[in-house]
Amino acid sequence: MANHRRCLISREAIARRVAELAEQISRDYAGRDLVTVGVLKGVFIFLADLVRALEFPVEVDFVRLYSYGPGTTSAGEIHITKDVELPLKDRDVLIVEDIVDTGLTLDFLINHIAGHRPSSLKVCCLIDKKERREVEVPLDYVGFVVEKGFLVGYGLDCGEKQRTLPEIYVMEK
Ligand code: IMP
Ligand code: MG
Repeated sequence: MANHRRCLISREAIARRVAELAEQISRDYAGRDLVTVGVLKGVFIFLADLVRALEFPVEVDFVRLYSYGPGTTSAGEIHITKDVELPLKDRDVLIVEDIVDTGLTLDFLINHIAGHRPSSLKVCCLIDKKERREVEVPLDYVGFVVEKGFLVGYGLDCGEKQRTLPEIYVMEK
């Protein structure tokens, strides 16, 4: 049976919101030395748009995490398969994530990055998906709040497919 999808967030709405987030981040970090840490792979499109909309240059690094668990979302043990490479000690670090669901991935990553002793650590996520939250995670910049559903497009994948769609869709059976 074919999977259907319904457009949830248009490319215009994404662009407007990313510009607003970039404005807010630019204001908050003016005159500082910001390093963004993107969580691969889902974040690559959002991060690319976000950093190019900032009013100053930033350094860009990535991590990649792997979580053992049932189904398409994380649930179990989390492993780092690609760690940060830039020095983060005494620097302003902004974790950039595509979507926060249970919060387990981000909770793990915040603890890991905090171990590098940055001078500040904040989180920006494109989508805060509320329904399955298990751990309260601090989200400083949020693009969109979504109650539930499995989302694809604008970097988000379903089994590696549909990442390159320019809009965000919700999968429907
Ligand atoms: P969490 O640890 O449950 O918060 O899961 C976060 C990760 O699960 C995200 O970074 C995504 O890689 C993946 N994920 C969660 N929900 C979705 C979704 O709706 N679409 C695509 N990936 C998702
Ligand atoms: Mg992710």
